[in-house]
Amino acid sequence: MSTDAVRLVEVGPRDGLQNEPCALPVDTRVRLIERLVAAGLRHLEVGAFVSPRWVPRMAGSDEIMRCLAPLPSVTYSALVPNEKGLNSALESGCREVAVFAAASEAFSQRNINCSIAESLERFEPVLSKAKEAGIAVRGYVSCSLGCPLSGDVEIAEVVRVSAALYEMGCYEVSLGDTIGTGTPGKTKALIEACASEMPIAALAGHFHDTYGMAVANLHAALEAGVRVFDSSVSGLGGCPYSPGATGNVATEDVVYLLHGLGIQTGVNLDTLVDTGTFIDHELGRRTASRTAKAIKARRERTLERTPT
Ligand code: HMG
Ligand code: MG
Repeated sequence: MSTDAVRLVEVGPRDGLQNEPCALPVDTRVRLIERLVAAGLRHLEVGAFVSPRWVPRMAGSDEIMRCLAPLPSVTYSALVPNEKGLNSALESGCREVAVFAAASEAFSQRNINCSIAESLERFEPVLSKAKEAGIAVRGYVSCSLGCPLSGDVEIAEVVRVSAALYEMGCYEVSLGDTIGTGTPGKTKALIEACASEMPIAALAGHFHDTYGMAVANLHAALEAGVRVFDSSVSGLGGCPYSPGATGNVATEDVVYLLHGLGIQTGVNLDTLVDTGTFIDHELGRRTASRTAKAIKARRERTLERTPT
């Protein structure tokens, strides 16, 4: 496997916080994002312009966008489900958005209240208006490796929806294992099938860790040629419309894996672990990152050995 660069998309401030029981003030969400940038993350999904009645935790995404100082080489993106979301995103100064479809009809209805076909129709004006405004658009395909409502999902359906988003103008399509039921063999088969219909450079992996397979699946996708991965600091996350699913693969674990493979990420792991500790404290939760746990335990052992 070649050891060229990997791009990480930090989705903690969006996917990570959208389903948390505890509502965080805008100021805390902004501090989280700033700390992630300080740790070296360069592409961050910071909010969602969705209905606050559907996903209350993403309210305030406009304020967050306005608070973030533009920085060279840092991209702040946000989810938009329709033209209304795009308009709000543009008004707040957002320079990249992501549309989100699904490979399961049942999930599409539950998540965005329309069929897959209707969602793709809805995205057409979003893509054309974004293009006019000079805004890049990313795409997601949820339930790429299984659906919380209807179970197994046909690979052919994931390929069809991914190719449709790409042809519509999404510069990249992130394949979401929304409920984390995927395994490495299935992940490899999925990537190979999608890469037969669109460039592999336009595919990203988005793995949730419900069954503890996220790092293994990410590695399988890496070996299959994927070079962009979504992850969430401290393994925060979960979709409000996917009950039982846990967070995204932890960014700390991904960085540890990639650095171990000799692949640079530009991320400082120690600073990232501290950022995870910060947000866990704010939320009153424990980290889901095995790497963060190990680094913190090692720090404590070192402190115990240090004479005072
Ligand atoms: P709807 O009820 O069918 O929408 O919801 P509607 O067009 O009939 O409008 C109903 C109300 O919502 C109206 O307000 C609209 O103005 C408002 P009212 O007149 O009743 O006061 N509305 C909006 N408000 C703010 N922003 C908007 C917007 N659009 C309409 N953009 C809708 C359809 C798509 C809006 C709704 O279903 C929704 O917001 N869904 C969001 C679901 C969501 O965010 N899920 C989590 C993210 S997806 C995910 O986590 C998976 C991912 O991580 C990948 C993976 O893991 O697989 C990406
Ligand atoms: Mg997700």
